[in-house]
Amino acid sequence: MRVVVTGAHGKVGRAAVRALSAAGHEVTATDLTRPVWERPEPDEPAYLQADLTDAGQAFAVVRGADAVVHAAAIPDPTANPPQVVFQNNLMATFNVVEAAVRFGVPRLVNISSETVPGFFFAERPFLPDYAPVDEEHPIRPQDPYALAKHFGEQLMDAAVRRSDLRCVSLRPSWVQHEGNYERNLGPQVRDSSVIGAGLWSYIDVYDLADAIVLAAESDLPGHEVFYIASPDNAGGHDFAAVLRRYFDDRIELRHLARRDASGISCAKAHRLLGWTPKRSWRDYLDENGRARTDQE
Ligand SMILES: NC(=O)c1ccc[n+]([C@@H]2O[C@H](COP(=O)([O-])OP(=O)(O)OC[C@H]3O[C@@H](n4cnc5c(N)ncnc54)[C@H](O)[C@@H]3O)[C@@H](O)[C@H]2O)c1
Repeated sequence: MRVVVTGAHGKVGRAAVRALSAAGHEVTATDLTRPVWERPEPDEPAYLQADLTDAGQAFAVVRGADAVVHAAAIPDPTANPPQVVFQNNLMATFNVVEAAVRFGVPRLVNISSETVPGFFFAERPFLPDYAPVDEEHPIRPQDPYALAKHFGEQLMDAAVRRSDLRCVSLRPSWVQHEGNYERNLGPQVRDSSVIGAGLWSYIDVYDLADAIVLAAESDLPGHEVFYIASPDNAGGHDFAAVLRRYFDDRIELRHLARRDASGISCAKAHRLLGWTPKRSWRDYLDENGRARTDQE
């Protein structure tokens, strides 16, 4: 397939480009960053510089694709003014989906976020109703990032109502790679009282890239939403015990597939996409949350 990957120079986009190319797809990468005006490296994907908040640029990027993986966004609401996060993320998604509908692109993979239910960046903090959190959890966003992601999923719903486009929204957990595992997860591995709204969940970027390939290749009809998180938690903590220790009965505990389960359930992605994650924080960090020296 000819696959366009937006946000291709970012953390997720880079891994997606590599995985899609390795799976045999003809990838066009696009991002805000400047092209390199040199002879392409062997197997380097085509690159287009485009700001997707501009409809014309988004249409030029999407034209001719068999599938679009839309990973371009400002990836949290804390480092830009709220209006900028909301406008950039929502209008980029609107323009990409509008172009996909108008050009008759068969498949769109929308990189959404675990933050959609709202408890990550809420001004008035609240807890998940239950854990592990799954796709059935109620959605109550307050912040511009989660709202734009929630509306983005609604744009997918609208697109499949009005066209033959098939959409998959992936809601990744906190994305980790060899360069940031120790900094991000080290403290949680050492000390279970370091708790994020994701309840010790995370996702390895290469497992996420595998899910993106499966989603791009999938024939699922309509629009499906999937959480994507590693099956274990950062630190391998006894999930039931730490949930009880830090939250008493304020978060209802639901079925756990394993003792060291993540705070997010990916049973749906396993069932409908056939996604089986293969990596763990343990491949990168030791029991003290320090980078493993024996890492390949
Ligand atoms: N990093 C995480 O932990 C995480 C978790 C859940 C979801 N996500 C989502 O995954 C996707 C990728 O995030 P990431 O971590 O790779 O972030 P990143 O910042 O590393 O990459 C995002 C890329 O999108 C590009 N971009 C932003 N606005 C654009 C625009 N208007 N037009 C064109 N390109 C634009 C940026 O230049 C950047 O290269 C985002 O949608 C993000 O919201 C990330």
